[in-house]
Formats: sequence, structure tokens, C-alpha cells
Amino acid sequence: MKIDLRSDTVTKPTQAMKDAMMKAELGDDVLGDEPTVQALESLACQLTGKEAAVFVPSGTMGNQIAIAAYTQPGDSVLVEDEAHILYYECGAPAVLNGVTLRSVPSQRGVIDPEILPKRCLTRSDHTPGTTLLCLENTHNRAGGVVTNQEHMMAYRDFADAKGISIHLDGARAFHAAIAQGLTIREVLNPVDSASLCLSKGLCAPVGSVLVGSGELISAARRWRKRLGGGMRQSGILAAAGIVALETMIDRLADDHALCRWFGEELSKLPGLTPSTPETNILMVQTQAPASLWQEALCQHDLHCFEIDPYRLRFVFHNDVSCGQTERAVEIVTHVSQTLATASA
Ligand SMILES: Cc1ncc(COP(=O)(O)O)c(C=O)c1O
Repeated sequence: MKIDLRSDTVTKPTQAMKDAMMKAELGDDVLGDEPTVQALESLACQLTGKEAAVFVPSGTMGNQIAIAAYTQPGDSVLVEDEAHILYYECGAPAVLNGVTLRSVPSQRGVIDPEILPKRCLTRSDHTPGTTLLCLENTHNRAGGVVTNQEHMMAYRDFADAKGISIHLDGARAFHAAIAQGLTIREVLNPVDSASLCLSKGLCAPVGSVLVGSGELISAARRWRKRLGGGMRQSGILAAAGIVALETMIDRLADDHALCRWFGEELSKLPGLTPSTPETNILMVQTQAPASLWQEALCQHDLHCFEIDPYRLRFVFHNDVSCGQTERAVEIVTHVSQTLATASA
């Protein structure tokens, strides 16, 4: 039995999604008459309270077209040290948009609002001006950590005082909402725009929606086209996205519960120090090199990521059952004994 805890991106579309995809009414989205894409975009607006939305092929494109729409070449963009935009998007803000990223330290992915004014640059004959703050909630590399609303409101106050915009990388913003007992509208209230992934915890096969003001989204549409992200009968994908938004949000609480239980079980084992997960991502500090752990677990068909030389990442999602989680604990227990014997 394969147990795939590498990422929630591995989730397969549900049967309801496949049925909706088969039945989707289709048009041509580049020509502006794709009814199912339009239905998905309206649903995203309704849920988030934002004025407009655009369906994009990936979370990366959602982030990058937002950055492009907000900035001019040479601008400075504030972003947390290990944010996906900085760490995992191949330098796209510099390559595509000519902006400089000014990184901001954090405590487990959460920026202290007091630091922001010190990192913000005022445009002058010498300095680039800061025009945008990018946030990530939940934070991937920090281990699914939630930024609470008090912090989010403090970022808003900072942005308003400086006259800059806030974009949220909301690949897992629904996880942040569920973990705090909030709606997605409440979580997004302090930000101007958000890229929301449908293809991670929500299980759609492909796609994200970028939500924001009408003005931002029309600029983002032009950037999507420029980057080759204009899609034609994309209603076939949007149909799965609609099912994702209608049926897959509340169940994220199950992933959070399994992740927490798995972490508690692992904390009983020698040689491993798991984080206390807030959502669906567990980070585990290892005494032996993480590569050894990853290989040994893989031999038992339990798959995870070596995120750092001594850190493993396990991600919980719809395609991991309670039974598989129990089996995963057995496998980790067995491997911990084998590694302990090998090092004795
Ligand atoms: C926090 C975060 N943002 C953005 C992305 C990018 O999403 P995509 O793989 O759809 O480009 C990911 C992907 O894992 C992510 O974890």
C-alpha cells in the first residue's frame, strides 16, 4: 500500500470532480465566453468577497501575475525569508517583472509587524520604492504555520500607512481559515489580493484562482495572456475547481487532525523531534541524516520529502486515510529501530 505524504499536490480529483468535468459546458476562455470558468470565477468572488477573479494554471502563475500587475521594474517587494515566492519560483519576480525582493525575517514564517517599516524603502534618486508586501498563509516551509488575524490586521495598518498593496500567497489559505474557525472571506479581508490553489488540499487536478479588485484582475489577465496562460476550453478544469470550492473546504479539518495525531505518535520515538502542527504539514527534525530516513521509509512505500539535511516533511490530504496513517506510524517506528541498530 503506497502512502504518499510528500505533498498535498499529489491528491487526485474526486469522483464528483470527474463527473463534473465530463458534463461541463465549454466555450473559449481567451475569447471570453467560457461559461464554466466564469462560474468558477464568480464563485471565488462570492466566497472571498473580492470584486474579481481570474482562473490560472498554477499557484506560481497566480503569484507572479499579481506581482507583475502591482509593480514596475525596479520596485522593491517585501517577502518573508523562506516564502514560496522567494524560495521556489525560480527567481521569477526578477526574471519576469524586474523587481527586487527584499526579504524579511520571521518566527516560523510569521513576520513581526514591527520589522516591516525598517525594511520598507521610500523611492528616491537612489533607492527603489517598496510597492508591495507578499505574505504566505499558511506558510509552507515553516510547516503549515498559520498567521493569525491580529498580525494580518497589523500588516494592513502598515501597508495603509505606507500606501502599498498586500498580495497573499494563499496556496493553503483555506487551511488557515479552517484552523482558526474563520471563513475565507475573513482571512482575506486584510489583503488586497490572493492566489488560492484548487489543486492542493482541495484536490482539483489543476489550477488556482487569483482574486482582487477589478482593476488588478484586468491587469493580471493581460499578464496571464502574455505568459501563455490563456486557456481555451478550460471549463473542463474549472468544473473540478467548482466542486473543490463547494465540497472540499470543511473536510480539511480531518487532515489537520490526522497530521496532529501522526506528530504525537512520532514524538514517542527516539531520534525524531516533530513540530506541533497547526494544519496539515508536519516537520520532523531527525538525528540521522534526513536522506537516510527518506530512503528507508521509501523502501516501505511511505513517501515524504527531505526538506533540509536533517528535516523531513509529511503532508496530510484527502488521499491519506486513518488506516494509512496508522500504517505510516508502524513504518516510521520500524525504521527508527533499524536506524538505531545501524548506528549502535
Ligand atoms: C505556498 C505555496 N505557494 C505557491 C505554490 C505554487 O503552486 P503551483 O505548484 O500550483 O505553482 C506552492 C506549491 O506547492 C506552495 O506551497
